Amino acid sequence: MIDQTRVPVVVAPMAGGPSTPELVAAAVGAGAFAFLAGAVATPAALRAQIDRTRELTGEPFGVNLFTPSAESAADVEAYRERVLADAERYGVPLGDPVWDDDDYQAKVDLLVAAAVPVVSFTFGLPRPSDVERLKAAGSLVVITVSTPADARAAAAAGADALCVQGSAAGGHRGVFLDDPAYPSGAPAYDLLPLLRLVSAQTGLPLIAAGGLTHGADVAAVVAAGAVAAQLGTAFLRCPEAGTSAAHRTALAEADRETTVTRAFSGRPARGLVNQFITDHDANAPAAYPNVNNLTKPLRAASAAAADPEAMSLWAGQAYPLASDRSAAEVVATLAEQYTEAVQRLTGRLIR
Ligand SMILES: Cc1cc2nc3c(=O)[nH]c(=O)nc-3n(C[C@H](O)[C@H](O)[C@H](O)COP(=O)(O)O)c2cc1C
Repeated sequence: MIDQTRVPVVVAPMAGGPSTPELVAAAVGAGAFAFLAGAVATPAALRAQIDRTRELTGEPFGVNLFTPSAESAADVEAYRERVLADAERYGVPLGDPVWDDDDYQAKVDLLVAAAVPVVSFTFGLPRPSDVERLKAAGSLVVITVSTPADARAAAAAGADALCVQGSAAGGHRGVFLDDPAYPSGAPAYDLLPLLRLVSAQTGLPLIAAGGLTHGADVAAVVAAGAVAAQLGTAFLRCPEAGTSAAHRTALAEADRETTVTRAFSGRPARGLVNQFITDHDANAPAAYPNVNNLTKPLRAASAAAADPEAMSLWAGQAYPLASDRSAAEVVATLAEQYTEAVQRLTGRLIR
């Protein structure tokens, strides 16, 4: 399905607001594939997004979920005390730093009932019974991997395809186990070596993600064996995306570095450096979703005040090249650039 779109581009699921039915419909209408984000949405809200997307388009699309993370023994209380002053500055209480499963099973059940064409999972492996139920409902199952070891496990779990996420990616790294010994939760792999290593151990279709913003990047990963490129940041500034105003402004200003941090959610994620990361990154525990629940009101208050300094500004490394044009225009530009790149390559054949 993803390997049969007119343009070998997938619009990434982007939880927390950016993914919308309008973004998905515009992208699939322009010849790409696209995902809704099911993480951190209630089952009812996700169902409404699926229904709305189906009103807007008859084309196939996908839905992504985060699998529940293992409960962490890390000290979240000490972190709570550290970030308390920030919450007080914004005049909001901190959230309860509890573990939850994000209503995961209810969302799997609704996806089985909705028979969505593609369901992708991030942060771990879906249960074998869920994989079977989704496949029986007619869905293709994609699992995000960011290390060769995770790819081996995902292939063994019955995935139909893998989303191979390199270390330049914006947003959360899809690592199955967040090992605090690594800033990125696991060894960080650049996309091309990761694609090569994963291709060496599975023949599954691969969707390449991480730091791709130009049609030549799409051609590069297709040349490297991927069936398509998954882009998130390149669509964050599109008018159809639900990205907050402060996030859009920070992306447009393009004057910040990106870094990988657990400061906002307790899992490693790449975003633009701001004051909150500078102050708290070093002490952030590996405890998702506890830290995410803790900082939620603070992040919301920062966004509501259009203040970029205490909200997560997820972005991939190539974010300065993201444009504010419509999703259809971004897909069309990627398609043109892809064609040019392929022509350039065929003009440079070895004789
Ligand atoms: C704002 C934002 C939110 C994201 N949310 C999700 C998500 O909900 N599920 C997921 O699998 N990946 C998510 N990602 C990661 C993307 O799937 C993808 O790996 C990444 O966007 C690729 O790197 P790029 O942003 O440089 O294109 C998110 C990325 C961004 C930028």
